[in-house]
Amino acid sequence: MTEILLFTPMHIRDVLLRNRIVTAPMHQYSAIGGFPTDWHMVNAGRWALGGAGMVMLESTKVEERGRGTIGDLGIWKDEHVEPLRRIADFIRANGASPAIQLGHSGRKGRVSRPWEGQAALTADCCPPDEWERWDVVSSSALPFSETSAMPRALELSEIPAAIDAWGAAAARADKAGFDAIELHGAHGYLLHQFLSPVANTRTDPYGGSEENRMRFFLEVVESVRANWPAGKPLFVRLSIEDEAGWGPEENIRLCRRLKPLGVDVIDCSTGGLTSAVPNFFRLNSFGYQVPYAEQIRREADIMTMAVGLIIHADQAEEILQRRQADLVAIGREFLYNPNWGLDAAQKLGADPNYALSPPQAAHWLTKRARRGFGGKGSTWAAGIHEAASGE
Ligand SMILES: Cc1cc2nc3c(=O)[nH]c(=O)nc-3n(C[C@H](O)[C@H](O)[C@H](O)COP(=O)(O)O)c2cc1C
Repeated sequence: MTEILLFTPMHIRDVLLRNRIVTAPMHQYSAIGGFPTDWHMVNAGRWALGGAGMVMLESTKVEERGRGTIGDLGIWKDEHVEPLRRIADFIRANGASPAIQLGHSGRKGRVSRPWEGQAALTADCCPPDEWERWDVVSSSALPFSETSAMPRALELSEIPAAIDAWGAAAARADKAGFDAIELHGAHGYLLHQFLSPVANTRTDPYGGSEENRMRFFLEVVESVRANWPAGKPLFVRLSIEDEAGWGPEENIRLCRRLKPLGVDVIDCSTGGLTSAVPNFFRLNSFGYQVPYAEQIRREADIMTMAVGLIIHADQAEEILQRRQADLVAIGREFLYNPNWGLDAAQKLGADPNYALSPPQAAHWLTKRARRGFGGKGSTWAAGIHEAASGE
């Protein structure tokens, strides 16, 4: 029988993942002053209990001014470490590997939550001193859209501190006990704003040529690696395709530079640099970004994670069997079914004894399965048929 790859444990550096399912980073917009709330504990906790191999917390901001919304999670000060550690500890105690995405919104910052309209905030959003500090910065003074805040281009003299903020955040993530970091270099946020010639029109060493536009990104990676233990994995999320002058060819060249700097996995997403919806998004279909994970894996010779409308267990398994990616990230399906990992294991027949479930549930589920209820291929109709035919 072919090995079920989705549930085959995997080592990345010194970290052992119990399976290859990662929860995609998803903003919860529910932090207060950057601090996680009970919501984060319950939400990340249920994904660990639900069978993920790695639970990755949402884009957590390395600078206060890098927040997208007032509810963004933060790691810009030491006080954030302890409450994050509680969450990391709970995830680990329940068999998953705790990971955190580090981010900075740059020119996409200072907006209301999506369900509040994602509109540019005004000074009445927060106390005057907080508003004062919420300085929207980018590579250049070019807004994301007609309605978003006008960013201020980072001065050349400010760039070293902007880079150091990522390294300091990585050191805090280590203290908080996370096993892996992902740098959010996609979706038109600050790192992407430096890469794209549409957002970056600087004329100093951080703009102009492709080499110069990569510089901020590469220096951030160096700063993070210098503050992040050699035994712990480093992921980078990129928008492999966009309509903003930074596409697959440029990304392949970037990934070839990232690997020697200590990046282990490229999480392959798309889009987000401009407010225009790129054409390829209209092709929104099962696994629409998987070809990018396959291309980067092959051409940049680096491990990849596929994401985007990976819905079904057999679909995830096929991506791995076809060597299109090394890991799969599941986003909205985990919002819908926080037990996605457990469910996938049953559907693929990978966990007959419910070993992936917490012991509080496993004992009872195994006994139930012995009596013919639940598990692979289980439906009510099939159960009634079996009972009627005496099978
Ligand atoms: C509520 C929500 C919040 C998200 N927040 C983030 C985020 O913090 N960082 C990020 O890189 N992507 C974010 N994304 C994108 C997801 O990580 C993922 O790439 C996208 O939802 C596609 O995967 P899916 O089809 O499995 O949901 C978010 C998506 C959703 C639905």
